[in-house]
Amino acid sequence: MSTGEILVTGGTGFIGSHCCVSLMKQGYRVVVVDNLSNSDAGVIDRIASITGSRPAFYIADVRNADEMDRVLRRHDISAAIHFAGLKAVGESVAVPLRYFDNNVGGTIALCQVLNTHGIKRLIFSSSATVYGAPDRVPVAEDAPLRPASPYGHSKAMVEQILADLSHADPEWRIGILRYFNPAGAHESGLIGESPRGTPNNLVPFLAQVAAGQRDALNIFGNDYPTPDGTGIRDYIHVMDLAEGHCAALEALLQGQPGFTVNLGSGRGHSVLDVVRAFEAACGHAIPCHHAPRRAGDVAEYYADPSRAMTLLGWESRRDLESICRDAWHSQCRQSNGASQR
Ligand SMILES: NC(=O)c1ccc[n+]([C@@H]2O[C@H](COP(=O)([O-])OP(=O)(O)OC[C@H]3O[C@@H](n4cnc5c(N)ncnc54)[C@H](O)[C@@H]3O)[C@@H](O)[C@H]2O)c1
Repeated sequence: MSTGEILVTGGTGFIGSHCCVSLMKQGYRVVVVDNLSNSDAGVIDRIASITGSRPAFYIADVRNADEMDRVLRRHDISAAIHFAGLKAVGESVAVPLRYFDNNVGGTIALCQVLNTHGIKRLIFSSSATVYGAPDRVPVAEDAPLRPASPYGHSKAMVEQILADLSHADPEWRIGILRYFNPAGAHESGLIGESPRGTPNNLVPFLAQVAAGQRDALNIFGNDYPTPDGTGIRDYIHVMDLAEGHCAALEALLQGQPGFTVNLGSGRGHSVLDVVRAFEAACGHAIPCHHAPRRAGDVAEYYADPSRAMTLLGWESRRDLESICRDAWHSQCRQSNGASQR
C-alpha cells in the first residue's frame, strides 16, 4: 500500500483489468490508459462493480506524447505498469512493423513522457516467449534469449532498451516480468479473456468450444516426448499474475533495484490435462481432433519461479482446476452478455 497513483497502460485488456482489481483491492489509486484496440470501455464499469470504486480512465494511445502528457499532468503518478501492446505471435509474423511500432515504439514513447514527468518506476509485461526453445526445463531467468517471432523479438528488444535506460540513469527502477501462460478470470466472472476473432490461446479456445461457439479443439501434435504425447505448458491464473504485479510494484516502491522475474506456476500441464480439467469445469465432453505439430512449438515448457519468491515473496496459489472453473464462469457470463464485449 502506498501513496500516489499508479498508471496502468492497457488497463482494459485481459491482464491489465485483473491487475487493476488487485491494485485497487490493495488500496492503490489507479489511472488507466487504453486505446481500446483490443478491449472495450465497459470493462471500467465491471472493474468498478468488483472493487466498489472507479479507476480514472483515458482513451489514449501510449505512442501519442501529447495525449500522455495531458494525462500525466492531471495525476500524481508514482509508477507505471505497462501492459499496452499487441500479443498475437502469428499476426506478428504477418505484420511485423505493426508489432515493432506498437510494442517497441510504444514503450520508448511511454518512457520518454514518464521521464519528462520524473516518473522512474516501471513494470513491463514481457513474456516467456523471449526464451524461444529452451535447452532445459524448468526455465530460469538466466536461460539464453532466443525469440522466434517478431512478437518475441519486440519483447526482447524492449527488455534491452529498458536495461540500457536504467544503466544510463540509475534513478530508473524497472521490473521486467516474463509471463508464462496466463489464463482464467476473476472469480466474479465479470472480467475475463474475451478474444476478438479466433482465440490464440488454449483456454479461451476450449471455453468457446465448450459453449458451442466452435466445433472442436485441434490438438497440434500428439507425438511429443511427453507422458501423453501432447505439449506441456505452464498455465498461471490471471489473478495470481495480477498479485505478482502488486508484489513487484511494492518492491520497486520500497526501493528495490530493478529485476527480471518469471511469473509462472512452476508446474507443467499437457494439452490433454487442460482438456480434462475444462471438461470437469463445464460438466460435459469437449470434442477434440488431433492435428499435426505446428512449426516452432516445443514439447515442454514451464517456469522456474524461485526468483519471484526470493525477490518478491510471490508464488502462484491457484491450480489448473481454478483456472478452468473461473474461465468457464466468465465464458458463461459473456455468453449471457454480462462480461467483456
Ligand atoms: N495474454 C498472454 O498470453 C500474454 C503472455 C505474455 C505476455 N503478455 C503481454 O501482456 C500484456 C497484456 O496482455 P493481454 O493478454 O492483457 O492483452 P490484451 O490485448 O487483452 O490487452 C492489451 C491492451 O492494450 C491496449 N493497447 C494496445 N496497444 C495500445 C497502445 N498503443 N496504446 C494504448 N493501449 C494499447 C489494448 O486495447 C488492450 O486493451 C501485453 O503486453 C502482452 O504482450 C501477454
